[in-house]
Amino acid sequence: MTVSSRIEPIRSVKGTRDLLPPETGLWQRVETEAHRVFAAYHYSEIRTPIVEETDLFARSVGTDTDIVTKEMYTFTDRGDESLTLRPEATASVVRAYIEHSLFNQGGIHKLYYIGPMFRRERPQKGRYRQFYQIGAEVLGSDLPSLDAEVLEMLALFLQRVGIKEYQLLVNSVGCSKCRPEYVSKLREALESVKANMCADCQRRANTNPLRVLDCKVPEDQAIIEALPHIMDYLDDDCRKHFDHVTRELQQRGLTYQIAPRLVRGLDYYTRTTFEITSGALGAQNAVAGGGRYDGLSEMIGGPPTPGFGFSIGQDRLMMAVEQAGDLKPSIPLAAYIAWMGDAALPSASRLARELRGGGLAVEIDYAPMKIKKSMGIANKLQARFAVIIGEGELATGRYQVKDMTSGQQEEVEPEKILDYLKDRLKNAA
Ligand code: HAM
Repeated sequence: MTVSSRIEPIRSVKGTRDLLPPETGLWQRVETEAHRVFAAYHYSEIRTPIVEETDLFARSVGTDTDIVTKEMYTFTDRGDESLTLRPEATASVVRAYIEHSLFNQGGIHKLYYIGPMFRRERPQKGRYRQFYQIGAEVLGSDLPSLDAEVLEMLALFLQRVGIKEYQLLVNSVGCSKCRPEYVSKLREALESVKANMCADCQRRANTNPLRVLDCKVPEDQAIIEALPHIMDYLDDDCRKHFDHVTRELQQRGLTYQIAPRLVRGLDYYTRTTFEITSGALGAQNAVAGGGRYDGLSEMIGGPPTPGFGFSIGQDRLMMAVEQAGDLKPSIPLAAYIAWMGDAALPSASRLARELRGGGLAVEIDYAPMKIKKSMGIANKLQARFAVIIGEGELATGRYQVKDMTSGQQEEVEPEKILDYLKDRLKNAA
């Protein structure tokens, strides 16, 4: 086919991309594992809108963060409301929790989501403007055991999708009681060095000194390394919480490193913060991040509700999954149905319907063709079996079932083919 040279073809927007088969097959497999693992830990799915009031993110993620100041897709809609394409989903989950008064049901709420997020960052390998997250949030408990359990669930999920090489970095950012003292110490320390830092850091040294620790400018790193550590300023309760979390991580067999600078680029965190990085991914090496956000609900007008959660960057995860190569794309084609002669088409079509109804992936072509061509297609599609129906088969009432791997062929009665194939596919699995 030729494309008209007179009309400029329209391309996808910078930083967004199409996910095509067979890649989407692998994405589905990963999502299926997420549904399974999260269900095993008794999480239920939540789906929130992609668009929210801008204020939701300004209040929760924070007005001085990179996300809110530089990266949000914010627009005024026709009703003069300021709306934003969600840059993350934790704020939306907590908004929904408040809006639907889930707190009235008592107990804790365990929710997870899979979907696209939007940040106007500079696109590069592993960084997109529309990217995907798989995330989980638990609301209603401040117990450190939950922090550890969520990290255990994340580790199980990574294991299930074949990721073995990664680092778990953990830290505590304290709480509203102990953090102010640290922030004022940080501000003091920054006073004498900020003149040598980037423009963002100079501003943040006054407005939100904690954000200086997120700075990625290479020249600023040595200065940041020498700043006071938040760990040294935790109050007794935050210290106890952190010690409990790390103790439980050890008991659960999870290896971690303490990363004193890990404050994360969002303002809502309290106490535990963490990140999962993978050396195999290059510059954009953070596969997942999260932490505790005990004050977030109140920031957006809800009742005091402790929370903990994480988001995995699915685009980056998929790069690691492909490199690991353990997970295979979703179900291959079980059978290709080859028919010869017009008289065989109704039987072939009936068999395809029965097999598909029985849960097998089946392909059939409706254009008449010779057996040789049919077998060529079956091979190309990597069908495990081919069922051959011609004049001879119609006469005997038994169809040829060919194992495309071994080349062996057997005659099977049509009504027995579904069980025959299921049996063989089960043995091969
Ligand atoms: P975050 O660290 O901003 O946290 O994002 C989580 C993950 O999303 C990152 O580790 C990264 O893998 C992926 N990610 C972020 N931006 C991009 C991008 N432009 N392109 C590709 N991947 C990206 C959050 O979003 C919090 N909501 C996590 C959380 C959940 N905290 C508590 N609960």
